[in-house]
Amino acid sequence: MTQALEARATSAPGSDLAIVTRGLTKRFGARAAVDDLDLVVPRGSVYGFLGPNGSGKTTTIRMLLGLVRPSAGTSSLLGQPIPQGAQEVLPRVGSLVEGPAFHPYLSGRANLQRLDAADLTADPRTSRQRIDAALDRVGLLATAGKRYRAYSLGMRQRLAIAAALLMPRELLVLDEPTNGLDPQGTREVRHLVASLASDGTTVFVSSHLLSEVEQMCTHLGVMSDGRLVAQGSSSEVRGGAAPSARVLTGQPEAAARILTELGLGEVQTVPGGVRGTPDGLAPEAIVAALVEGGVGVKEFTVTRPSLEDLFVSLTGEGFDVSG
Ligand SMILES: Nc1ncnc2c1ncn2[C@@H]1O[C@H](COP(=O)(O)OP(=O)(O)O)[C@@H](O)[C@H]1O
Ligand SMILES: [Mg+2]
Repeated sequence: MTQALEARATSAPGSDLAIVTRGLTKRFGARAAVDDLDLVVPRGSVYGFLGPNGSGKTTTIRMLLGLVRPSAGTSSLLGQPIPQGAQEVLPRVGSLVEGPAFHPYLSGRANLQRLDAADLTADPRTSRQRIDAALDRVGLLATAGKRYRAYSLGMRQRLAIAAALLMPRELLVLDEPTNGLDPQGTREVRHLVASLASDGTTVFVSSHLLSEVEQMCTHLGVMSDGRLVAQGSSSEVRGGAAPSARVLTGQPEAAARILTELGLGEVQTVPGGVRGTPDGLAPEAIVAALVEGGVGVKEFTVTRPSLEDLFVSLTGEGFDVSG
């Protein structure tokens, strides 16, 4: 699944890849929190780094940003080795690891002013433009004067992303930016990520809620217990999960025979009808064959298994979203 990307990683180091790791490992005592990770994150992608709580996402991100020293392995950001190249490259990388400490009684704008003033690489003369641009980017310009404590959760998270955007960034690393958000806040963050990506920023975004972020991702990496169990473009990863066709009918035996003759896989009767895997057969061709065969079709659906289903099939473990 990852072979095409890895071939590129070796032929053109750093040029078209935002993040590469080789054998990246972090042990806490005897236990590997991150185990032999080979991440390949193409430039321009929105890479969803997914896995249940405790699967090693934050530890990986902390190593990528040079906040934690790996036990083994290497990583590079925008072509620079970490931690050696950290000073050079980190100004081009915005991150949200643990939300920055915002002051509840200061406005959104005043909070950004404090953070901007603390950045020694930022020119104080252009502070106002930088802050306005970041607030505008996340859609908080109109409410920048409100106190932080009056912000909704979605607004708070967008302010945290604005803080990461005070400087122009080629790569954004966001650790669980939708954590704790309601559906509206989650949509706000999703739209923001999509608009950043459309400007060419590479976004590496982690989540323990598989279905919540996968919609905005061009690439996915799925973690389980410190290991990367799947990686590639969204369609490559999703392609590992075969769709399933289901026919509701009063003539299940006739329907099962026709589906088998058509070449569907795993044909079996289910309550109210039959199901099978279409293996590339068009839904309209399946329905036409059933009708021609005299089967009354009450309902016909083709569903793709969710990423949660895929996770279960990859790891043999249940996926506990509340985890
Ligand atoms: N500083 C630490 N000391 C010991 N164990 C840790 C430390 N940080 C993380 N862990 C353990 O490493 C594993 C992965 O944690 P983490 O990277 O936070 O996962 P995630 O972000 O996917 O929830 C967990 O079992 C966690 O308890
Ligand atoms: Mg985490």
